[in-house]
Amino acid sequence: MARAALALVLTLATTVPLAAADIASGKKIAQRWCAACHVVAMDQNRASVDVPTFCDIAQRKSGEQLRTFLIDPHPKMPDMSLTRGEIADIVAYIESLKP
Ligand code: HEC
Repeated sequence: MARAALALVLTLATTVPLAAADIASGKKIAQRWCAACHVVAMDQNRASVDVPTFCDIAQRKSGEQLRTFLIDPHPKMPDMSLTRGEIADIVAYIESLKP
């Protein structure tokens, strides 16, 4: 019993991080948490001035740079305490905006 449970936990632990990067969920998080300041999607036309759009960010930053930034955001941007899963989803979403 305990062995089966352990095997299940190990399977989940190794498969979940890969399956976690979900573009659709990243878009939802972006629209909920980031759209107040950033233009996060092509169909959005209002946000703060002087804040880079996600499209623009996608062209300038690599996935690795985005992950590092979101784990410890720039002082001008609030730290939203995103989980690793949320960060993976948002980064997958931003990368999907690359032309
Ligand atoms: C309260 C406003 C605000 C919110 C909400 C916000 N940001 Fe930002 N963000 C900024 C500002 C302002 C900058 C520019 C910082 C600078 O230029 O120093 C920025 C910069 C960034 C950058 C770096 C861009 C670059 O050019 O290097 C990334 C990536 C980013 N934001 C992602 C996000 C994500 C993802 C979310 C949602 C989870 C989010 N932001 C929510 C204000 C915000």
